[in-house]
Amino acid sequence: MQEKVLIATEKPFAESARNSMVKMFEEAGLKPVVLEKYKDPKDLLSAFSDVAAAVVRSDNVTKEVLEAGKSLKLVVRAGAGYDNIDCASAKARKVIVENTPGQNSNAVAELAFGLMIMIARGKYSGKSGTELRGKSLGVHALGNIGKIVASLGKAFGMDVCAFDPFVDQCVFDDCCATRVKTIEDLYSTSDYISLHIPKTPQTVKSINYDLLSKMKKGGTLVNTARAEVIHEEDLLRIMAERQDIKYASDIAPTNAAAFLEKFADRVYFTPKKMGAQTAEANTNAGIAAARQIIAFLKEGKVLNQVNP
Ligand code: 3PG
Repeated sequence: MQEKVLIATEKPFAESARNSMVKMFEEAGLKPVVLEKYKDPKDLLSAFSDVAAAVVRSDNVTKEVLEAGKSLKLVVRAGAGYDNIDCASAKARKVIVENTPGQNSNAVAELAFGLMIMIARGKYSGKSGTELRGKSLGVHALGNIGKIVASLGKAFGMDVCAFDPFVDQCVFDDCCATRVKTIEDLYSTSDYISLHIPKTPQTVKSINYDLLSKMKKGGTLVNTARAEVIHEEDLLRIMAERQDIKYASDIAPTNAAAFLEKFADRVYFTPKKMGAQTAEANTNAGIAAARQIIAFLKEGKVLNQVNP
């Protein structure tokens, strides 16, 4: 009997990317099932019930979803961050979780500059704005996205520095970013700070009052990472205290209304998380995910596992 593979995306891939994945699964002798734009999490539960593997994006793969997946062996997050998947429950059920690192990084990095320019140009209001050239850019974490942001910053003529205690000096050298010793140094010297830390128990709410209060005069914080890494109440507080600080984020904070009401000119939020929402990123991440599923179901190969 053909094994079923689910493509479950509340926020669908570009049609061409999804069609390529469907074709790859069919050619590998697997039966693809597509669930897109679902509104009710129960739909995800029932879709998982009889599949051997699943591709997801930011979809919440909870303990309940995993329990519903009676035949489930593998979940591939077509993307980088896997904070939406209960990896511990998956491990307990012997379900492998993989991601597709680097595949959508360029799209996210480009959006970071889109947000910087949006703020620099007064949200395209027609008012006179400023340019990125000659400004300082602080990259908070030099993973796959941060490295591209640093390189693009150079191309824009920015002075690029970065903070990342987890990577070697050669990574800073490769993307021509000056290494700063402390996170406080990064925030106090950068006209633009671009956030690229993952969401983990250690990073949630880690961008707090102490750190935000170090921001350079007129500084802009750009968040294409996760909304949850920001301490929202602290950000509201510092933005009220300092009229010079600006914030742009790919996906709104929980209390978006309060930010927009108080600081309309100084904040911008995308209506839906859209950093990786390009045809190219969808194709790269989707095809990588499909390849990983086929490699596992047909050859037993495990690639990019994140819950060893
Ligand atoms: C990621 O972690 O890969 C990005 O945040 C993209 O998420 P998305 O697939 O939900 O757009």
